[in-house]
Amino acid sequence: MREYPEIDVSDGVYPPSDDTYLLLDAINFKAEDSVLDVGCGAGLGTVIAACKASSVVGIDISLDAAKNTAANLKRNNMERTAGVVQSDLLSAISSRSKFSIILFNPPYLPADDNSTMMDHAHIGGKLGSELTQKFIGQASRHLIDGGELFVVVSTLADTSTVMKAFRNYGFQIERVAEKSLFFEKIQVLRGIFRGQKETVL
Ligand SMILES: C[S@@+](CC[C@H](N)C(=O)[O-])C[C@H]1O[C@@H](n2cnc3c(N)ncnc32)[C@H](O)[C@@H]1O
Repeated sequence: MREYPEIDVSDGVYPPSDDTYLLLDAINFKAEDSVLDVGCGAGLGTVIAACKASSVVGIDISLDAAKNTAANLKRNNMERTAGVVQSDLLSAISSRSKFSIILFNPPYLPADDNSTMMDHAHIGGKLGSELTQKFIGQASRHLIDGGELFVVVSTLADTSTVMKAFRNYGFQIERVAEKSLFFEKIQVLRGIFRGQKETVL
């Protein structure tokens, strides 16, 4: 387990939890990496990536989370290495931008009848996996060949559709970490991007 920098967590922002640490412990950021931290939350992953990689962008649909990440980059003197943008998945990322590592600890739980202020951080769609599937498609357009995509999945959601999305978008997949929690098992999947599939007419 790595040493974690000090960060603050704002109200309404997801606090670093078991899934955060499982994901970050599974990634080896290197000096030459360009990193996109999707759903950056309080910014722990963005700060850690910025300590190692040459360029880092954190994005989150929540403005509070984007501001929280920016403040934590400043707190750790990393604001020159990393930028933060409010974005729904990768919609605000230029089509020309390519990364060597993209990570996402997504909202991965299936929707239920009880809505809370933190649904944006927990609920990934009716089956729990819809947002992750959409993310994989978008991320495949922003990875270099051989680039790595890391994502957290839960046995409470439909992981088979996530695996299918990985394969459809040209990834080779492996499970690189897992942890059993009270009601579920969470896993980190690593997809290595093998290039856009050619369309044969
Ligand atoms: C489980 S939290 C993870 C936060 C942080 N990365 C961590 O691991 O502690 C999921 C994050 O994804 C963000 N999120 C949810 N839907 C999103 C979307 N469509 N685009 C970008 N971020 C999204 C949430 O606001 C939340 O900050």
